Amino acid sequence: MVSILNAYYDLSQKYSAIDYFFVNAAQGVYDGIDWVGATKQVMSNVIESVTNPTYRIQRVGVKSADDLGLVFQANVFGPYYLIHKILPLLSAGKAKVIWVSSLMSDPKFHSLQDIQMLKSDTTYEGSKRLVDLLHLGTLEEMKDQGIQQYLVQPGIFISHSFSVYLNFFTYYGMLLLFYIARWIGSPWHNIDGYKAANAPVYVATLANAKSEQLRLKYGSATDKNGKEYIKTQEVDGTGASDVRDYFDKLASEWDEKLKDQITNTRVPI
Ligand SMILES: NC(=O)c1ccc[n+]([C@@H]2O[C@H](COP(=O)([O-])OP(=O)(O)OC[C@H]3O[C@@H](n4cnc5c(N)ncnc54)[C@H](OP(=O)(O)O)[C@@H]3O)[C@@H](O)[C@H]2O)c1
Repeated sequence: MVSILNAYYDLSQKYSAIDYFFVNAAQGVYDGIDWVGATKQVMSNVIESVTNPTYRIQRVGVKSADDLGLVFQANVFGPYYLIHKILPLLSAGKAKVIWVSSLMSDPKFHSLQDIQMLKSDTTYEGSKRLVDLLHLGTLEEMKDQGIQQYLVQPGIFISHSFSVYLNFFTYYGMLLLFYIARWIGSPWHNIDGYKAANAPVYVATLANAKSEQLRLKYGSATDKNGKEYIKTQEVDGTGASDVRDYFDKLASEWDEKLKDQITNTRVPI
């Protein structure tokens, strides 16, 4: 949290307004792949196996040095706290704030009884569900500050996070499955990071908050020939205000804990 405070301090020293803020963090606490489970899922439903994989093993109860749920802090609370601190700069820039979620943010992945996901073995997916709820829960307040907030998801694409547990054969096997999924009808297998960036880039550069439906999730999609388009999805907002209240309270607690953290060391003698 101290590094977030430092970022806030640096940004507010350097800039009087901020125009864009992308929340893109993808911290996971992976512990390998359940290869038997993976084989079964691929055999039973190819598209599902490379859209909503159930075979990635995630560690349970991992906390950060700040004693917060690690994935909760990295992917959601940390960015939220930075937004909370730089709100005047975002407001001055009439900024666009873009939360990067995922297809894998089904409500079943997160419980309001365990907001920091300390008992969960689906912390990555749960953090993306929290992103969805936090977007819905804060949308109106952000609008009142003159800030346009959007929720996006990039579909599925190759990135660093994929290669950690794969070897040459499994990497190219997975790539082949991605193309098969696209050819048999998945709109979400963008594969290429540039295509996956379409939704965030669309809302940042082309979208106008007055004519867009800000409660929808904007997704990067491709047809089976790889032609790109934007596809929106409804988001189930159950629990959005509870999540917003929890984040507000936690942010106030951290304001209090960090209040003496940064002192001006450049006092003229
Ligand atoms: N790849 C996919 O198929 C896919 C699917 C659905 C959604 N997404 C979403 O798309 C976005 C980009 O995904 P990606 O696959 O490109 O992810 P990635 O390369 O693994 O990571 C994205 C970013 O997360 C940052 N990050 C990781 N741990 C962090 C931490 N503890 N604190 C702060 N930042 C941290 C990394 O920062 P550093 O560079 O500084 O390490 C990196 O820039 C993410 O929000 C992800 O959830 C991706």
